[in-house]
Amino acid sequence: MVGPGDEHNGPVVTIDLRSDTVTMPTPEMRRAMAEAELGDDVFGEDPTVNRLQERAAALMGKEAALFVPSGTMGNLLGVLALARSGQEVIAEAHSHVFLNEGGGAAALGGIQIRQVPGTAGVMTAEQVREAIRPLDDVHQPPTAAVCVENTHNQAGGVVWPLESLRAVRAVADEHGLAIHMDGARIFNAAVALGVPAQEIAGHADTVTFCLSKGLGAPVGSVLCGSEEAIARAHRWRKALGGGWREAGVLAAAGLWALDHLVDRLAEDHANARTLAEGLAELPGVEIDLERVQTNIVRFRLRTMAAPVFVEACRGLGVLGGASGHGVRFVTHLGIEPADVQRALAVCARVLGGRC
Ligand SMILES: Cc1ncc(COP(=O)(O)O)c(C=O)c1O
Repeated sequence: MVGPGDEHNGPVVTIDLRSDTVTMPTPEMRRAMAEAELGDDVFGEDPTVNRLQERAAALMGKEAALFVPSGTMGNLLGVLALARSGQEVIAEAHSHVFLNEGGGAAALGGIQIRQVPGTAGVMTAEQVREAIRPLDDVHQPPTAAVCVENTHNQAGGVVWPLESLRAVRAVADEHGLAIHMDGARIFNAAVALGVPAQEIAGHADTVTFCLSKGLGAPVGSVLCGSEEAIARAHRWRKALGGGWREAGVLAAAGLWALDHLVDRLAEDHANARTLAEGLAELPGVEIDLERVQTNIVRFRLRTMAAPVFVEACRGLGVLGGASGHGVRFVTHLGIEPADVQRALAVCARVLGGRC
């Protein structure tokens, strides 16, 4: 992409740090898509979709999986598979499922979300226990499930420690509750922890992961769970108009990503760390480096409103996001170490520091 000129020599390439969703399929991924074997997935006959679903289920250690168009639909179907109308699902107060998914669980499933304010996106077992409704009180909606987001977007890509997951799982088990994991970026968590994704997903009954974020596929997420949960989700996907036909052309991109792009997420994490450490040196930047564990960098500014900063950076060819008082930069497949250095120079210039 060609962006505005800088003070040196004319046009420069835009560095897009708005989100890892902006990743483009690589030429090899496009080739895999073009060559995919296809069939009608509403008849269950697309061999590439079937392969992706089997692969995803195996990677997450689950019985079955369902390919869906988005992380939002994966989360919605996960919640609809685990809870019924009139029930409640506990979720962290800044979770994507609560804040950013159009209230789908309430609108379509009659399911209420109970917010628990975690620390850096992580709820304690005690907080979850306290949020569970007493079964013998007819005034209160019964709690059906807990939703955990890993990595946690609003917290800055924070990874749930495995012991925290284990503790929440134990409380859920004590109370007969299910767990849905919004694992949109579960592979970032797995790479950061150095464990297989199924060690993380093993603490949840259903898990959604996205192919279209750091993994670079153009479209798609996968919901994984038991045969029973996936059968229920499949029914809901149909009702939502999400039955798709020769979707193998998209599933092929996902399979290619799973084969080739998971381990390289470590590069995104290293780039995010360099970016965060560089930002921490700039005047007026407040950043919690402990939260920079994966590919998301969130920070606040003491001297400038976030939207003003983001607009000024845009004018110099660096795109980011402003949310609330903060700024978000996300590293991904399209960002090289040299881009990070250029982004830092632009931030320094905007903040009046050294270039
Ligand atoms: C944590 C998290 N969950 C779910 C989603 C939803 O994914 P999609 O945009 O594919 O619906 C996102 C999107 O950014 C996300 O960050």
